Amino acid sequence: MSERPVRTYWIDGELVPPENAHVSPLAHGLHYGTSVFEGIRAYPTPRGIAIFRLDDHLRRFFASAEHYALKIAYSLEALHDAAVATLRASGMSDAYLRPLAYFGDESIALAPGLRCSTHVVLAVFEFPPLSQGAPGFRATISPIQKFSSRALPATVKAGGHYTNSVLALHDAKARGFDEAILLNIMGEIAEGTGENIFIVVGGVLRTNDASADALYGITRDSVLQIAEREGIPTAIGPITLDQLLGADEAFFTGTAAEVIPILAVDDHEYSSQRPITDQLRTIYAGAARGADPRFESWLTLI
Ligand SMILES: Cc1ncc(COP(=O)(O)O)c(C=O)c1O
Repeated sequence: MSERPVRTYWIDGELVPPENAHVSPLAHGLHYGTSVFEGIRAYPTPRGIAIFRLDDHLRRFFASAEHYALKIAYSLEALHDAAVATLRASGMSDAYLRPLAYFGDESIALAPGLRCSTHVVLAVFEFPPLSQGAPGFRATISPIQKFSSRALPATVKAGGHYTNSVLALHDAKARGFDEAILLNIMGEIAEGTGENIFIVVGGVLRTNDASADALYGITRDSVLQIAEREGIPTAIGPITLDQLLGADEAFFTGTAAEVIPILAVDDHEYSSQRPITDQLRTIYAGAARGADPRFESWLTLI
């Protein structure tokens, strides 16, 4: 049996030893995917350990919870403090934080809002960036379509929404690719299974938005802000498959993957010269690790 990774849990208001961390088999979230979550990173910086854009992640967490009528009994400030306390208790400096809220087991009925309690978990564990040591991802256009936001809003990070990503990533990996790119119902680019997509065409950085059924990624926003500070022109709008394949550069952004070049999409290879991707990737990595004073306000030192 493989050794269990080290994890630190804060559950419903207190730090709980892993052996005492339990979920009811009838938890509503487990059956119907009515949980919401976030993925956040902490990095070592010259001034100590820092959580990257903690409050921005927590704001999205509360917005996701509201969408599913999950009533979180803690304020944003309380969860901010809990995240700091849990990371401190973990003793880790390079860590992944996973806030999760889910309906409990009081009812198995499909509309749990009024009858089920909401549980809140913060888990801290090791999860090296998916981009670590990788020159980039080889991606494939998924045969699995991105769900329409008219069915499930892509801006909401809910557990059930991720079965779409799981199917697409299983398919991509089974065919030897690193990542899948999902097309929306209009046939345009939506996003990766856990990342937003950017392209560079003629020096202009372009990404899509919620109208293409993409999540408003915090990394996406960071990259757009970095581009603005660096004087790189940006455009927000739909990205067609032809635009993706015809782009000078393409990359994914996400908390798990950070900024990672797309080396190829199916049998289309991109040039190994990607100056804007490299520039943004380097500045993002530095900003997250406290090396760039312009972005200090993104860091919560613990
Ligand atoms: C579907 C999807 N798109 C985009 C992202 C990127 O979001 P962020 O940069 O906030 O991690 C994620 C990761 O959370 C995701 O799951």
